[in-house]
Amino acid sequence: MGTNEKDDTLTNRQGHPITNNQSIRTVGNRGPATLENYDFIEKISHFDRERVPERVVHARGAGAHGYFEAYGTAGDEPISKYTRAKLFQEKGKKTPVFVRFSSVIHGGHSPETLRDPRGFAVKFYTEDGNWDLVGNNLKIFFIRDAMKFPDMIHAFKPDPITNIQDSERFFDFCASSPETLHMVTFVYSPWGIPANYRQMQGSGVNTYKWVNSEGEGVLVKYHWEPKQGIKNLTQKEAEEIQGKNFNHATQDLYEAIEREDYPEWELFVQIMSDDEHPELDFDPLDDTKLWPKEQFPWLPVGKMVLDRNPEDYFTEVEQAAFGTGVLVDGLDFSDDKMLQGRTFSYSDTQRHRVGANYLQLPINAPKKRVATNQSGGQMQYKVDRAPGQNPHINYEPSILGGLKETKQEGKEHTPHIEGNKVRQKIDRENNFGQAGQTYREFEDWERDELISNLVNDLKNCHKDIQSKMLEMFYECDNDYGKRVEEGLKNAHVDADDTSGPLGESQTRQAVNKAEEEG
Ligand code: HEM
Repeated sequence: MGTNEKDDTLTNRQGHPITNNQSIRTVGNRGPATLENYDFIEKISHFDRERVPERVVHARGAGAHGYFEAYGTAGDEPISKYTRAKLFQEKGKKTPVFVRFSSVIHGGHSPETLRDPRGFAVKFYTEDGNWDLVGNNLKIFFIRDAMKFPDMIHAFKPDPITNIQDSERFFDFCASSPETLHMVTFVYSPWGIPANYRQMQGSGVNTYKWVNSEGEGVLVKYHWEPKQGIKNLTQKEAEEIQGKNFNHATQDLYEAIEREDYPEWELFVQIMSDDEHPELDFDPLDDTKLWPKEQFPWLPVGKMVLDRNPEDYFTEVEQAAFGTGVLVDGLDFSDDKMLQGRTFSYSDTQRHRVGANYLQLPINAPKKRVATNQSGGQMQYKVDRAPGQNPHINYEPSILGGLKETKQEGKEHTPHIEGNKVRQKIDRENNFGQAGQTYREFEDWERDELISNLVNDLKNCHKDIQSKMLEMFYECDNDYGKRVEEGLKNAHVDADDTSGPLGESQTRQAVNKAEEEG
């Protein structure tokens, strides 16, 4: 330390003490400034780079640290019957976790009261390396083929010209994608606005596999159940909160942890044998479907407690990178093609969003040794070298030394797959059956909300979109279709009326213009 330097002395990143942080260096006190203002240029140019691209979806989020504690069992069975993943084996075994909750469609500081699924992404720092369970609050999804994801997100995000979200674009996509109806039914009900992050469920949504030490696989779905109970909002309640506080969910999570009221979730799994299950009226790999609880009971396997807030939002929450490809021994992919599409997308976007060395950041790095032959790329700040490793041998295999492969623990899971390469929809689409059942299982106030929210957003849509949506609501359940139809009639707004709250949407104007021009 220099003579006048103390522990709290401000420095730049070269370690130079700063003697004047108020004024840039100028010719006379009125300027002009000079180019050799190193401290100013370092300060301002770092500021200019303070943001990385926000997530293309799920940009708005909040995070917390905690732990997962295993029960050692899956219901009445020892868990080793189904999986050899080490984090689950012993009763009471704790694994550190980092969780990020999010909303999906709007940007980094958008209101947390919007109707939207909520992300529920968990990173388990296990002794075998990291496992990410990248889930949502709702248990199903809009689509079942990854090819449709970019179009779906384009339709749901703000219009490319006006930058305003437009329900006509949302329903335009859904009207031609009947597999969305089950998710639309949830999202337009109060389940589309969880009261906060602590009082919502989580789900892995896609079907994964568990593999035991014999190499035998089963299909598995994951569910997080909040010990705080579940609470959802009506549209009106959400609007009231939003009028006063658009950060309420982040604040609720942060403050609960600060006052040591640690939120907890229990983890349940549903298990199915690993085959196509022709006896079911849905495909077990179809993420628009629930697995009926009566047939596939929820088996408790552990609990998660969040007990520590991040020290720095950007370092931990913003730079956190979760992906569905991040599995440990004993966990595996199913053949779910949507899951495989996701698995490419996450690490691809993270190399762009955070950088090639995103896995070296402390929030993303495993809490165990890492030894690779990877090196270079922007922002590398260390080499993943094993202790005593000869630094010249940065390749494998080698007779001279270097890193070596290890043996597989337990038998490999080697499912047999054959078929023609095709581009096709799945056979058992059954797009409306479960949507109708969900509609019937809602409580009365949930159904009332669903109808009123749908009518409110559909009433300004093009008549062809309205009729296609109505046709599908009727397919789900006659009462469902009837109530939306009546609601639209009572709204006194037909397709040619442009008296909606925002007038005619930009999308509609463009469609009308194109129609006029033939
Ligand atoms: C975030 C792609 C479906 C849950 C993301 C991100 C991408 C993406 C690119 C941004 C990641 C980042 O910048 O770090 C996709 C694709 C999907 C898909 C291509 C379908 C083919 C789903 C589904 C779920 C889901 C079905 C629910 C299980 C999430 C969550 C995040 C996320 C929770 C935020 C993770 C975080 O907090 O950082 N997704 N997604 N996504 N996705 Fe998906």
